Amino acid sequence: METNSTSMHQDVVTVRVRVPGKVNVALKVGPLAEDGYHPIGTIFQAVSLFDELEVRPSDDLSITMHGEGSEHLVGEQNLALRAARLLQRHHGVSDGAELTIRKTIPVAGGMAGGSADAAGALLACSILWDLDTRPDELHELAAQLGSDVPFALMGGVARGSGRGTELVPMLTRGSYYWVLAMAEEGLSTPEVFGRRDELVAEGLATASTRIPEPLLEALAAGQVRRVAELLDNDLQAAAISLRPHLQQVLDAGLAAGAAGAMVSGSGPTCAFLAEGEAEAMDLATALRGCPLVRAVRRAVGPARGAWTVH
Ligand code: C5P
Repeated sequence: METNSTSMHQDVVTVRVRVPGKVNVALKVGPLAEDGYHPIGTIFQAVSLFDELEVRPSDDLSITMHGEGSEHLVGEQNLALRAARLLQRHHGVSDGAELTIRKTIPVAGGMAGGSADAAGALLACSILWDLDTRPDELHELAAQLGSDVPFALMGGVARGSGRGTELVPMLTRGSYYWVLAMAEEGLSTPEVFGRRDELVAEGLATASTRIPEPLLEALAAGQVRRVAELLDNDLQAAAISLRPHLQQVLDAGLAAGAAGAMVSGSGPTCAFLAEGEAEAMDLATALRGCPLVRAVRRAVGPARGAWTVH
């Protein structure tokens, strides 16, 4: 049977999905809780940097990954594979799936690339296996896999709280042209949160999940330049203290005309907000000349959440 979301090639049903990466326009971090997580107050914005997943029927579960440093990601702990396994167990499915992922979102880059793959696997496998999975059920399974996985399903712009899994969609105006400077080596999210706790303990930072009101107002009004000035990531100082050269990358982007600059999530990707598309193109060209940057990509937000493609 051919449906909107599946296509037949030589009698093999293939489901394809595309999932966006994200930036956190604000990421405010509260004190470490007993469960090992930090309560956060965040504004997620999905951006047009996508990972693509293809799934085909199989007797067991397997995965092949291409692109963006993905050679290290194949193994039993791969988050997309864990997502497929979780869905199998949840619905008592005995079928398997052959997953192929083409990555564009940087690995361990602070843009939720692994989370995007898990979200994509949940969506694609639930279509492949013809499961009647309600959106709230998918969200619940996504939250079990990781703090950023539910947002990868939702996309757009959302305010996140708790571990980042409690989401409320936000209406914002404007198009946001980002330039993303990728680093040579990823950063470990727990390590960055740990460094953040040390900065708080040393009195160098304050633990609070409160998102500044002027940023919310600027997003609602679509004042891109004002948003750029108010970008606010509590993990930035921690990421910079672990990778001091990130400060030089941020400074280089600002000197090249970025309206705003921040470390994306737990880093080390640096995200620059440009005033418009032409400015983003100029900025990307300038950053490509920066020896501290491995690769530069442009992306626009908000982008839609995980969806099926043909
Ligand atoms: O949920 P996820 O697996 O993406 O989180 C990875 C790690 O990041 C957690 O094990 C935890 O150390 C840290 N984290 C946190 N507080 C959050 C989200 C993640 O401390 N809100």
